[in-house]
Amino acid sequence: MEIQLWREILIPYQQAVQELKVKFSSIVHENRRLGQYSPIEYVTGRVKKISNILEKAKKKNIPINRIEKEIDDIAGIRILCQFVEDIDKVVDLIRSRTDMEIKDEKNYISNTKDSGYRSYHIIVYYNVHTALGAKRIQAEIQIRTLSMNFWATIEHSLQYKYEHNIPYDIKKRLMNAAEAAFQLDQEMSLIRNEIIRAQNLFQVKSSIIADILNNIQNLHKVTDNIKEVEQIQEEFYVLWEKGNFEQLDNFNKKLDMMAAGYKAQSLL
Ligand code: GTP
Ligand code: MG
Repeated sequence: MEIQLWREILIPYQQAVQELKVKFSSIVHENRRLGQYSPIEYVTGRVKKISNILEKAKKKNIPINRIEKEIDDIAGIRILCQFVEDIDKVVDLIRSRTDMEIKDEKNYISNTKDSGYRSYHIIVYYNVHTALGAKRIQAEIQIRTLSMNFWATIEHSLQYKYEHNIPYDIKKRLMNAAEAAFQLDQEMSLIRNEIIRAQNLFQVKSSIIADILNNIQNLHKVTDNIKEVEQIQEEFYVLWEKGNFEQLDNFNKKLDMMAAGYKAQSLL
């Protein structure tokens, strides 16, 4: 039998997980920078441990030389969303990408598993280039809400504790808990717009404050009139204490104009 060099075998999967984490996290950061709502809250990823790969192969009667073909979750990415509605957006986003090809999709949200498990799974083909050359690997992307993730994480640790033989009464409780978690998702969906507005306002407010402080710092650099900058800073603290969003926004616009004035002067 051919010797399996596991360290080498896993390198492309490690590379893929790192790349995919960066790619999906960038969507979060870009949306936030643009002041837009991000359908992705955060992203995690892992490469399956060798012991778990071997165990799964044994359980599913997969010959060693077919492991990479038949075990599709050696590379695993998890995308966490705030709202159930966001999951569809993430699925569309993945479908539209040219750097990954969808092999299979499983909707365990409309087809909840008997355990109570909910999630949307997509298996993709993904090309990686490593020191060992190019390789097309498979990766499993699980997309779920924070609430679904809470349930799945706890259920998974119980599966582990009871070695997949969870006692009936605990199973029943877990099924009830899964329904309660989904109820929570639905309640949150009903006030989704309100929550998004509040989060956007918070985002906008913090970016205005960062802008104001940046403007003050720039003015401080270019002016000979330090007293004036001190006054501006005083004024900012007073407005900040009051916490009126509109006033802070107007104040920032005034500073923008001052900064533009200095810039025009420096170009003369
Ligand atoms: P696996 O052999 O686990 O890959 O099953 P499968 O090939 O039929 O795929 P499936 O889509 O059912 O499950 C893939 C992954 O989803 C699993 O490895 C788990 O991470 C997760 N999953 C599926 N069902 C459950 C469940 O009932 N509870 C929890 N906690 N996770 C689950
Ligand atoms: Mg699977």
